[in-house]
Amino acid sequence: MSARVLVIGNGGREHTLAWKLAQSHHVRQVLVAPGNAGTASSEKISNIAISVSDHTALAQFCKDEKIELVVVGPEAPLAAGIVGNLTSAGVRCFGPTAEAAQLESSKKFAKDFMDRHGIPTARWRAFTKPEEACSFIMSADFPALVVKASGLAAGKGVIVANNKEEACRAVQEIMQEKAFGTAGETIVVEELLEGEEVSCLCFTDGKTVAPMPAAQDHKRLLEGDRGPNTGGMGAYCPAPQVSKDLLLKIKNSILQRTVDGMQQEGIPYTGVLYAGIMLTKEGPKVLEFNCRFGDPECQVILPLLKSDLYEVIQSTLDGLLCTSLPIWLETHTAITVVMASKGYPGEYSKGMEITGFSEAQALGLEVFHAGTTFKDGRVVTSGGRVLTITSIQENLISALEEAKKGLAAIKFEGAIYRKDIGFRAIAFLQQPR
Ligand code: AMP
Ligand code: GLY
Repeated sequence: MSARVLVIGNGGREHTLAWKLAQSHHVRQVLVAPGNAGTASSEKISNIAISVSDHTALAQFCKDEKIELVVVGPEAPLAAGIVGNLTSAGVRCFGPTAEAAQLESSKKFAKDFMDRHGIPTARWRAFTKPEEACSFIMSADFPALVVKASGLAAGKGVIVANNKEEACRAVQEIMQEKAFGTAGETIVVEELLEGEEVSCLCFTDGKTVAPMPAAQDHKRLLEGDRGPNTGGMGAYCPAPQVSKDLLLKIKNSILQRTVDGMQQEGIPYTGVLYAGIMLTKEGPKVLEFNCRFGDPECQVILPLLKSDLYEVIQSTLDGLLCTSLPIWLETHTAITVVMASKGYPGEYSKGMEITGFSEAQALGLEVFHAGTTFKDGRVVTSGGRVLTITSIQENLISALEEAKKGLAAIKFEGAIYRKDIGFRAIAFLQQPR
């Protein structure tokens, strides 16, 4: 037990990564830059105040402090080239290079790539001129109703329109009113796909693909999947909608094909690859790629990883994933419910004191912090998504019941949350077959 590890980021995903890495018998200490109140509350996990965009300072810190491994949580530093910069400074860093991370940072790159490699996805066209986009929307021979900023827009750059007029209005919003800044200079107009959405992630060393159990995120703010889109209000894993056979199909026709295609194109992809998938009547189709763990999917996937995360990451970095495939807990289901600040995903207030952590812990729940900080020795809210409560049980229904007890235990003024996480899986399991 000697390694020191640095996790980059400050959300619930990063708290979960730090929590799981801290369980490794190889790991002595986990540092998180910049972290949150949750990653500063235990003996083995603490924060460091270095900006995640200052790659030179991070590399220097890693060398001075003998950091064995850096694990990057969010997409922005990956797209900004943190992996290349740290690796060339001699620091071991887990995640794709900026070039490989284009699968997430450029939707146009991802769509062109999928077409070149026969990876199933919605029909699409890219545009740099709004009038061309609108005339395409009006005359397309498929419902071209999804308008996406091609660049990174913190998960917000997608508008799903109800009709052609709304789709043209979305083009205007993105291209002329620059709702997502330069991310919307190029847009992708896409066919509306119908079905259930699932998140299929894998570890990959550039050759081998090791799928994780499928998860489902609940992106809408309100119960019943209504209301505005958010970063995600809760998730569960495994998603029973994805049978073993279907996961194998997704592995072969999507994940492995992507990793092989990147290798063939001279842009090897290593790290975590996340395919957002629509289960359509014609089969699974890719909605998007992410180049990292999902948030909040990470909070339900990693608790089911039986293997040592530090070892899985090291074998991925060594190109030896095939010799030590991760093992998953197949007997349990994990649910996570996000507690957010009143007003989220719009304007929200900060600085509300949060209580009830020890009560939730006494119930056997994991509380992963996101937008939290310390003020006068107390934990207070500092973000839209404040924390997530994860419950791991033998089935989905009891996991949800336990998570609800945690929601009752943890309190802060204006807390909002959904009590129906997993409802689609419960409906799926109740269907006659
Ligand atoms: P993305 O960031 O590309 O995954 O898009 C965000 C959300 O928009 C997805 O999670 C879907 O709910 C929705 N979405 C994106 N593309 C499509 C599509 N082609 N058809 C239907 N819904 C979509
Ligand atoms: N939960 C969706 C994402 O992380 O992009």
